[in-house]
Amino acid sequence: MFKITLLDGKSFFCKESESIVEGARRNDLYLDHSCLSGRCSSCKVKVINGETITDSDELPLSDLEKQENFILACIRKPLSDLYLAAEDLSQYGFSSPVTVPAKINSITPLTADIVEIGLRLPPNQKPQFLEGQYLNVIWNGIKRSYSIASAASETAIKLIVKNYPNGQMSAYWFSQAKINDLLRIEIANGTFFLRNHVDKESLVFLATGTGIAPIQAIVNSPQNQARLAKFRNVILLWGMKYQSELFWKPNQDNITFIPVLSREGKTKTYVQDKMADLELDWTSTVVYACGSDAMIQHAESKAIALGVENTNFYSDAFVPSN
Ligand SMILES: Cc1cc2nc3c(=O)[nH]c(=O)nc-3n(C[C@H](O)[C@H](O)[C@H](O)COP(=O)(O)OP(=O)(O)OC[C@H]3O[C@@H](n4cnc5c(N)ncnc54)[C@H](O)[C@@H]3O)c2cc1C
Ligand code: FES
Repeated sequence: MFKITLLDGKSFFCKESESIVEGARRNDLYLDHSCLSGRCSSCKVKVINGETITDSDELPLSDLEKQENFILACIRKPLSDLYLAAEDLSQYGFSSPVTVPAKINSITPLTADIVEIGLRLPPNQKPQFLEGQYLNVIWNGIKRSYSIASAASETAIKLIVKNYPNGQMSAYWFSQAKINDLLRIEIANGTFFLRNHVDKESLVFLATGTGIAPIQAIVNSPQNQARLAKFRNVILLWGMKYQSELFWKPNQDNITFIPVLSREGKTKTYVQDKMADLELDWTSTVVYACGSDAMIQHAESKAIALGVENTNFYSDAFVPSN
């Protein structure tokens, strides 16, 4: 066992055989994570002191990040005691994931290739999640992750699902799924949720496509209204192809909504490019980005170049399952 100490002073003992994220969970501590398989980089953390090992290439990390001792804590195991630039998130009240049956309650087309799926749980099951987290749908031996688009206070759980060409689960959602179909869901996973930022001036949400789902949940959450109100600026940049695809917008006056339409103009525009046009004190800005992996990687480098501290960039990348 090795002792892992975090920046907030908390510590835990991690086995040589388990990842740092797993070791933290076994000790009831939560470190940032999402996919838990080295694909998304949500668990990226800087090792201040100590040695770790992995048998993966850690593809989401750049060469510079590797040189600067960043690791993916979900696939790294300790080789010594460690001091990590990470914080425990357990004070936010996570629940351990549970697998429960769920029936399809509604299927609502939103665009030509996006549907909203409503799920209902048995009456004795109250879903426990923080807005922004995702769940896994298990159907016919297939398991896929979907961000929860509804707030925890709503009765139905809503998902915003895109049709991926030749996708196994897409084929189910878009040509077989019907009301009252029985699925299983593993709820809830990941640490993409709105933290309690006390001293920051601006909050920027970035989303591409169905990456708007967890942001819908975050901004619609009654519990989050006080957290949102602390910022002087709350800005949402949502990338879609066409104006006609914008199936949602926030209804709060204190959120500036900027659709970024990549196919409406003469040149393609992306959310990460539009971000640089915002006149903000980037050193006092937190960024929450969700959607395509490519957008998140570009947006993170741009945000850091603009002055955002790397610990103030939170993301959930919709990486493929395998
Ligand atoms: C944390 C997390 C949250 C997610 N939330 C959502 C969500 O809210 N809504 C949603 O629609 N999807 C979401 N996804 C993606 C989702 O889990 C599936 O990857 C997606 O639905 C495709 O599954 P499939 O079975 O149809 O395709 P598959 O059979 O798995 O793949 C078919 C083809 O599509 C490609 N592909 C699969 N997934 C992706 C992807 N994400 N990006 C680019 N290419 C891909 C594959 O490489 C393959 O070529 C999320 C993923 C993660 C990791
Ligand atoms: S890469 Fe570690 S949680 Fe995704």
